[in-house]
Amino acid sequence: MLEHDVIIVGGGLAGCRAAVEMARIDPNLDVAVVAKTHPIRSHSVAAQGGIAATLKNVDSTDTWEAHAFDTVKGSDYLADQDAVEILAREAPDVVIDLEHMGVLFSRLSDGRIAQRAFGGHSHNRTCYAADKTGHAILHELVNNLRRYGIRIYEEWYVMRLILSDGQAKGIVMYHILDGQIEVVRAKAVMFATGGYGRVYNTTSNDYASTGDGLAMAAIAGVPLEDMEFVQFHPTGLYPVGVLISEAVRGEGAYLVNSEGERFMAHYAPSRMELAPRDITSRAIAREIQGDRGIYPNGHPGGPFVHLDLRHMGQEKIMSRIPFCWEEAHRLVGIDAVHQPIPVRPTVHYSMGGIPVNTDGQVRSGPDRLIEGFFAAGESACVSVHGANRLGSNSLLECVVYGRRTGAAIAQFVQNRKLPTVDEEWHIREAQLQVQMLLQQSGQRRIAQVRQAFQDSMTKHCGVFRTDESMRQGLQELQQLQQQYAEIYLDDKGSCWNTELVEALELQSLMVVGQIILTSACNRLESRGAHYREDYPQRDDGNFLKHTMAYYSLAGLDIQYRPVTLTMFEPQERKY
Ligand code: FUM
Repeated sequence: MLEHDVIIVGGGLAGCRAAVEMARIDPNLDVAVVAKTHPIRSHSVAAQGGIAATLKNVDSTDTWEAHAFDTVKGSDYLADQDAVEILAREAPDVVIDLEHMGVLFSRLSDGRIAQRAFGGHSHNRTCYAADKTGHAILHELVNNLRRYGIRIYEEWYVMRLILSDGQAKGIVMYHILDGQIEVVRAKAVMFATGGYGRVYNTTSNDYASTGDGLAMAAIAGVPLEDMEFVQFHPTGLYPVGVLISEAVRGEGAYLVNSEGERFMAHYAPSRMELAPRDITSRAIAREIQGDRGIYPNGHPGGPFVHLDLRHMGQEKIMSRIPFCWEEAHRLVGIDAVHQPIPVRPTVHYSMGGIPVNTDGQVRSGPDRLIEGFFAAGESACVSVHGANRLGSNSLLECVVYGRRTGAAIAQFVQNRKLPTVDEEWHIREAQLQVQMLLQQSGQRRIAQVRQAFQDSMTKHCGVFRTDESMRQGLQELQQLQQQYAEIYLDDKGSCWNTELVEALELQSLMVVGQIILTSACNRLESRGAHYREDYPQRDDGNFLKHTMAYYSLAGLDIQYRPVTLTMFEPQERKY
């Protein structure tokens, strides 16, 4: 059996930052990272617009308190304010630390790190590396993993979390290269497995964002928190859905409808295009619903609006947001220097996830923790984003809470023994699961079932929701879960069997979809990204609380835990 002091699942920003912290604190710790892609291909690499921190390089009046307030207001008051305080206070330090690691941030003319405007932030505080910020940060973190000699298992798909007697003991993983199955036991297990954008049919997320960590935790009996809060980024490139960064609007681009109007004046007059994402996405969706969208031939009534950069000029476009220009040019043939970009909301981020305390330790309930199990980044819910995340706070969460979780784990494993794990049993169970999938004799293709599922989630649990539609979504999901038993795999081999991996991922997607729908059905109010047409008001009296959804094959049990309010009283949220 393989064994390490610490096993981290996920090679993106949060996992890598945690690993670096453990190595810094105790170079003798045996830390390993396992990822289903090469770490450099983790979805963090796709983050574009930046990372928020009150460095005050552009705006000397900025404060961590202002950052905390913007974050809490942006969250529609659902964020835990103790966690937000840590996020905002530690932000400058983690950014400077990244710079010292070698991250190539864009600069002001005097050499200090440049900072731009971002949605919902009251000051220019977003640090960036053009529009490839995640790329710049992840490369340096992965370099540091090598430097510290951290073991990397790349292209291993983790099938199970081993959790028993209230303790996480290890994982079971499948080597995509040759089908080998291994058990890893560890004194601490950390999940940093990212989000689930592929639950929906249009997303800015990578193909690998299938919510595996969330599903594994849920199947092992861990509750998932606030899963009804799904972030739609306002400007997905139409029709592909990839991200056109908020940085484009931060640098001055306009959102325009078929009448040539900057329609955000009706929805968020004080912030216009830089309103928070929930508000901007709903505004775009309303314009499209109201026949003020645009068709590819320029006629009104179509499925997108325009993001107009033309007034910004070629020099600014090419120096500040070159990747967005390139995406529009390469994928839909638009030269954004001369033509507006077609955009519409695209699924982008999960505000909910595996519930953790501010040291990254996973909660098994409102007042209980799971021994040896930690999580950070998008797969975790600490909760700094509440019902709606502000742009440029997610990279920040990954490094602030990746660092804190790494430090907490380094402490936790000192003088601990490796747990006892029944390797043979776990290998047999995993082999059985693989064999059953390979031997299924149904007629259905994975892609067909997955597409039907993604279409159903998009239709029934999108930007706007109603009880009737979500219940319909749950019914359809039940039928699709039955169809899962009828899928047929062409590839029966063990060498690079990506079809098998897709079958395992589809199971994760469906577990996560069921938890999103059920949590959303039970929240009878509108808050942040969760907008119910049948309950259009926020209801603090009944729902100023976090959802805790417990999964089992028999169904879901929905419970709640209180929100931590320390600095700011909930107010009406206006922009
Ligand atoms: O629009 C963006 O560049 C995305 C940033 C974020 O999600 O934080």
